[in-house]
Amino acid sequence: EGITITVCGGGNAAHIAAGMFAKNGANVNLFFSFEDEAKRFKEACDKAGGVTVTTKTTSYTGQPKVITADPKTAIEGADLILLIVPAFAHEPILKQIAPFLKKGAFVGAIPGPGAFDLIAINVLGDLIKERDITLFAGTSLPWACRFDEYGCKASLLGEKKRVDINARPNEPERNALLGDKMSRLHDLTDFQCKGNMLTSALWPTNCIIHTGISYGIWHDWDGEPVAEAPLFYQNCNDFTGSVLDGLSNEIGQAVEVLKKAGADLAGWQPIDVYLLDVYGDVISDHSSTAQIFATNDAFRGLKAPVTEVEGGKFVPNFRTRYLTEDLPHGLAVLRGVAEICGVETPMMDKVLLWAQPKIEKEYLVDGKIQGKDIAQSGCPQRFGITTPEQLVNGDIPNSAN
Ligand code: NAI
Repeated sequence: EGITITVCGGGNAAHIAAGMFAKNGANVNLFFSFEDEAKRFKEACDKAGGVTVTTKTTSYTGQPKVITADPKTAIEGADLILLIVPAFAHEPILKQIAPFLKKGAFVGAIPGPGAFDLIAINVLGDLIKERDITLFAGTSLPWACRFDEYGCKASLLGEKKRVDINARPNEPERNALLGDKMSRLHDLTDFQCKGNMLTSALWPTNCIIHTGISYGIWHDWDGEPVAEAPLFYQNCNDFTGSVLDGLSNEIGQAVEVLKKAGADLAGWQPIDVYLLDVYGDVISDHSSTAQIFATNDAFRGLKAPVTEVEGGKFVPNFRTRYLTEDLPHGLAVLRGVAEICGVETPMMDKVLLWAQPKIEKEYLVDGKIQGKDIAQSGCPQRFGITTPEQLVNGDIPNSAN
């Protein structure tokens, strides 16, 4: 057989993908947007004879076939292209690889938050039809992982048993084929491909967890340095829990409107249901959203991002992906979707209006998603979308193509 898969990205997760997919019999190409990264990875990987992945119970090595920053070499022969990078890297990568996509290729992002589909449709335009491209996104990364030695050694700390993905076009045969391809590449994760591709964009994960908890911890911060970095998840109290529930409920209301407009969003889950589904056996108190976060063993010890200042004290560091990724490709997108659906969003507005100045960005202005920085976001308003039907169908009035 020999499916050829190109993994775009060279971070923690790309190490696991390279080792695992090659070990499972695929021809793996690694595509890097940055030449120096490609060079560093290739040197280390060639020297070691592949990427060695160590799990809790075993260890294996897989050798990628191609490691390059040249999109033509990396993409031309690929059946499946997987972007495993932060969401702000999706658009630049898609621009690099677009000319080289082969007919019938599957192009997906895992995780695929923040309207990956709209961004991809905008970049690829007519190519999607001409080359019969299937776009897909995943609700979450199947792994918790990190590389230990760049280009050759990585640790796989946890593997999800199931990850839902969704595709455009959303057709039973394509979905089955894609789910099967993805499941075969992975060791323990079963991939079910189903539902409208909005499912991944609307998934109540980092886009509301990182932003909502940051707000919960720091919304009334007085500007004075603190003695230690607060625990990010374990500190989750009733207030923060109500923020998370509020955000999740507002997405849920948009989901109902989009269902009426024809979207299959049957797989969508509210935040507490989702967390219990994934982490139920390591959460000791299931009684409320606050407790679900505060007593989740998988989150134990993780702290809020901070910067050390004079006197060994700390101030919050807001310039991390918790806001730089999870606003333009997360909460701002969700607020934009809710606006199009005619849903009231008091909680999204509170969190967004608090968070956006922290990274000097404007998305929500005068009650609408219309700020200048939507131009670098997945917000549907950027693409001229005004109706739920356009969202459901991925119909972009202001396409760049
Ligand atoms: P990483 O930070 O290790 O890797 C980032 C990769 O993206 C690098 O190769 C970098 O060059 C590339 N990149 C960054 N900006 C770029 C740009 N503008 N254009 C092109 N490429 C760019 O990330 P990691 O850990 O591999 O995670 C990938 C995704 O999975 C992220 O969205 C992360 O939030 C998510 N995730 C990661 C988990 C983990 O355990 N590592 C767990 C759950 C989710």
